[in-house]
Amino acid sequence: IKQKGLADIDSAVDLKKLNEIRVHLLGKKGPITATLRGIKDLPVEERPEVGSYANKIRDAITQAVAAHREDLEDAALNKQLAAEKIDVTLPGKPVAQGQPHVIQQIIDEFVDLFLGMGYQVLQGPEVESDKYNFEMMNLPKNHPARDMQDTFYLSKEFLMRSQTSPMQARALEKHDFSKGPLKMISPGIVYRRDTDDPTHSHQFHQVEGLVIDRHVTMADLKGTLLTMAQKIFGDRFDIRLRPSYFPFTEPSVEVDITCFNCMGKGCDVCKHTGWIEVLGAGMVHPNVLEMAGVDSKVYGGFAFGVGPDRFAMLKYGVDDIRDFYLDDVRFLDQFDKRG
Ligand code: PHE
Repeated sequence: IKQKGLADIDSAVDLKKLNEIRVHLLGKKGPITATLRGIKDLPVEERPEVGSYANKIRDAITQAVAAHREDLEDAALNKQLAAEKIDVTLPGKPVAQGQPHVIQQIIDEFVDLFLGMGYQVLQGPEVESDKYNFEMMNLPKNHPARDMQDTFYLSKEFLMRSQTSPMQARALEKHDFSKGPLKMISPGIVYRRDTDDPTHSHQFHQVEGLVIDRHVTMADLKGTLLTMAQKIFGDRFDIRLRPSYFPFTEPSVEVDITCFNCMGKGCDVCKHTGWIEVLGAGMVHPNVLEMAGVDSKVYGGFAFGVGPDRFAMLKYGVDDIRDFYLDDVRFLDQFDKRG
């Protein structure tokens, strides 16, 4: 039994097989148990010898099983280790890295500049109320100037904001003028019911700007806008203000920048004026201040609304605004600042 048992144990190729052999040899129905059980039927003088012999065999088999189990476990572990071996010296696979979208890069430049000039950066809801988008901006219901912005209405009261100007009203309402002037910019997405074409998108970006204090003048507005234009385009660029109309500013201006194509000499791009229109601005209308609870006899200032999409098109010579929204990485990778 011992020889056969030990040979069987050695031949076991896995732990399951080994366990079967163990049960077969040492289990309740095995030969050892049977022998030990049979001792009581033997003559008294033979019992110690047979018992100790059977015990020895049982111990030898138990040990052999334990030893072989360890061997099998080691072998299994080694096999697993070999299978999972990693060569840390192999070169890694390159990971495609993204970068901020070109429009976001322009917005970041605005934010960077205005934070440096002590402005706060505010963000507001894209689903806006008629009240903030229009009424608080001096555009009561049925005002004809509402037609200037074709609007996506969600209901009678709610709409997709057609401009970031509602952030003027929200900022004015919140600001505590006893703590100092209000200076803020608010970048964000706006929506208009326009048919998409190379120069129109139903969704685009604006950065609203607002400065309210005592004694703010139009010269402050012009200086601020010149600084902004030169930050984005460079020092060789100049701006000019032309009279215009917005319901929430009086006077209102449209702002032109030196034509990037001819640097002011006159070309087809600027229709031989030397200038390209880039944004709207003006001195905040007293009605806007009063509706937001600000005393327009004490406080006043300027506001502007600029389109980063338009700036990006001019700066990089992109001739179709829709390219910004198609998210083709071959287009977007051209504006990878990391080179
Ligand atoms: N909200 C205006 C527009 O979308 C731009 C603007 C902002 C004009 C602030 C004047 C002052 O056309």
